[in-house]
Amino acid sequence: MSEPLIRLVDVRKTFVLRERAGRIRRTKREVTAVDGISLDVPAGQICGYIGPNGAGKSTTVKILTGILTATSGTVRVAGLDPRTRRVELTRRVGVVFGQRTQLWWDLPLADSFELLRHVYRRDLADHRSRLSTLVEVLDLGAFLATPVRQLSLGQRMRGDLAAALLHAPEVLYLDEPTIGLDVVSKARVGEFLRRVNAEQGVTVLLTTHDLADVERLCDRLVVIDRGRVISDGTVAQIKQTYGRTRTLLVDFVEPQAPVTLQGITAVRVDGPRQWLSFDRTTSAAQLIAQVMQEASVRDLSIEEPHIDDVVRQVYGLAREQLLAAEGEDRA
Ligand SMILES: Nc1ncnc2c1ncn2[C@@H]1O[C@H](COP(=O)(O)OP(=O)(O)O)[C@@H](O)[C@H]1O
Ligand SMILES: [Mg+2]
Repeated sequence: MSEPLIRLVDVRKTFVLRERAGRIRRTKREVTAVDGISLDVPAGQICGYIGPNGAGKSTTVKILTGILTATSGTVRVAGLDPRTRRVELTRRVGVVFGQRTQLWWDLPLADSFELLRHVYRRDLADHRSRLSTLVEVLDLGAFLATPVRQLSLGQRMRGDLAAALLHAPEVLYLDEPTIGLDVVSKARVGEFLRRVNAEQGVTVLLTTHDLADVERLCDRLVVIDRGRVISDGTVAQIKQTYGRTRTLLVDFVEPQAPVTLQGITAVRVDGPRQWLSFDRTTSAAQLIAQVMQEASVRDLSIEEPHIDDVVRQVYGLAREQLLAAEGEDRA
């Protein structure tokens, strides 16, 4: 088997903060942002990398780009160590930090693209053909002459995506690329990423708060908390493990008292509509048959657990597990 495109082995990153304690004295405080992360991302995968605020997502991305150096552990991207081969890697990697643009603020968008051509020393013909594709797919044509600072957030993000992909990288790191975007822009960015991945085989590592992005896009979902991986699998696997219940949505012909069958909990009632929660191991067919004996039913559907709820549960369980493990350490 070939080596994964991205490899992290027991990576740690500790920041040392010097804080004032009183008027003269200073104390040192250590913050462990990444606490022993191991992760292999094969070429061609879209890997979601999520976690609560402060979990260590951005720090991981910065280590992968070579902006930050890991305190310990091994980091390889396309077989190269970003710490020592950063320049070589920049040609093979694209990055978007949603909170910060890499475009030149006062220049028209087109000028940023031209500057990037020189930064990456791209052949003019290659550059032109790639740029025209990106402009078309990301629909940038109407504001190529607009200074970046005058662009809307969604336009700017599309500009940033084009900038990150202009030099035809193999790997794309996206740190919160849809933050602050409206639903339409988000969907557009998602669609674009799927296309880039499918057509060019670009490997994507995506951090986001928006789990709809993850559900739409990611082959795999790695969940981190306090600098550690707490869950790793496909979205479907994580839902199966943590989203233990499904919901049967029933529209009765007439309003009914909440259904009280064994194995079912009526979690919500709204007129003739009821939301009945049941364990995922229970046969939906049997439950439906039972419900239909209770009263006349107009319509039925089964809802899978919502990804947000599932991930909240992952965090909740991980915290409990960590606390339990720490308790054992102390005993
Ligand atoms: N340059 C830094 N100096 C000190 N602490 C930092 C620095 N960067 C990040 N941290 C701390 O490391 C932890 C992880 O931060 P970060 O990687 O930005 O998390 P995330 O992107 O998941 O929200 C946080 O506690 C944060 O305060
Ligand atoms: Mg972050």
